Amino acid sequence: MRIGVLCSGGDSPGMNAAIRGAVLRGVDVHGFEMIGFMDGWRGFHEGDTVPLDRAAVRGLSPLGGVVLGTSRVPPFPGGLLEGPEADLSAIRSGMEKYRIDAFLLIGGNGTQTVARMLANGGIPVIGLPKTIDNDLGGTDYTFGFDTAVSIAAEAIDRLRTTGESHRRCMVLEVMGRDAGWIALHAGMAGGAQVTLIPERPESIEQVCEWVLSVRDRGRSSLVVVAEGFTLQGGASVTRDGLDEMGRKRLGGIAESLAPLIEERTGIETRATVLGHVQRGGSPTAFDRVLATRTGMAAADAAHTGDWGTLAALKGDRIEMVPLDEAAGRLKTVPVARYDEVRLNFG
Ligand code: F6P
Repeated sequence: MRIGVLCSGGDSPGMNAAIRGAVLRGVDVHGFEMIGFMDGWRGFHEGDTVPLDRAAVRGLSPLGGVVLGTSRVPPFPGGLLEGPEADLSAIRSGMEKYRIDAFLLIGGNGTQTVARMLANGGIPVIGLPKTIDNDLGGTDYTFGFDTAVSIAAEAIDRLRTTGESHRRCMVLEVMGRDAGWIALHAGMAGGAQVTLIPERPESIEQVCEWVLSVRDRGRSSLVVVAEGFTLQGGASVTRDGLDEMGRKRLGGIAESLAPLIEERTGIETRATVLGHVQRGGSPTAFDRVLATRTGMAAADAAHTGDWGTLAALKGDRIEMVPLDEAAGRLKTVPVARYDEVRLNFG
């Protein structure tokens, strides 16, 4: 069997380890031939491929980024077609051209939605879930999330010492377009006094009440905010331009919140946007292990013909779940998980 590997969406620490796991198991154990498409669907459209053998994945486990490159270039001419009737003929003729029998698709929500469309059209495909946002349904955690949380927690620790020294309120913006998992976990790890997530708009009055109560206890506030958070009645804060999928680029909520907090509380307030620092660099050991096991499980599933599935983490096991259970199902922070920290804000 000859398998094409393709990465799509934003990069996520652990993608290299996942490719390595899939190749070690797929090529060495099951005897597959494997190729990688460079920069996601761009490589597929333009014939930019690399052979994936044991030598190609040597030393990849600790490497950040992804050696194959990734992009949000759509798989179908004219963009991502919704509905059951997506025209897969271009994908099928590409598969003939590259002589591949199946795909391993490494990506988040958008990518796994594409994987499901291919599977529904009878194309053999297996999904490998990745996103630092951890917002993909069907799996407990996605690789990249643990690394992003560790970096954000370290940023909180660093901002806290300088903030306390100057009696300032420090606002840290982390990624999280539709789900506040990074903010929730980093805020908990770093003992943030306020955590703001997309799932739960709060009023500026409430945020300031928390900041003032921290000051009244003789401390300085550390506020962590996910980029997709909105104030009650407000809209998302966006930057200029759209991404390759035509979505607005988020970012800047911390810079919007800081002057509002300062004006209402009289406490000097500074904003820091962590940005792509939280996606870059070496994956944590947890993410390397999760990604490697995900890659290995995906190769095993290809060997047994378990197509149309996602290599998902369930507890401490990697299980193959139907793509229908994951694709298009955003995993947001449950109310109870937010409320357990919210009770202690301020
Ligand atoms: O989807 C993962 C993510 O990290 C989001 O949290 C964020 O909005 C987006 O990617 C940023 O993407 P880009 O790096 O293309 O600007």
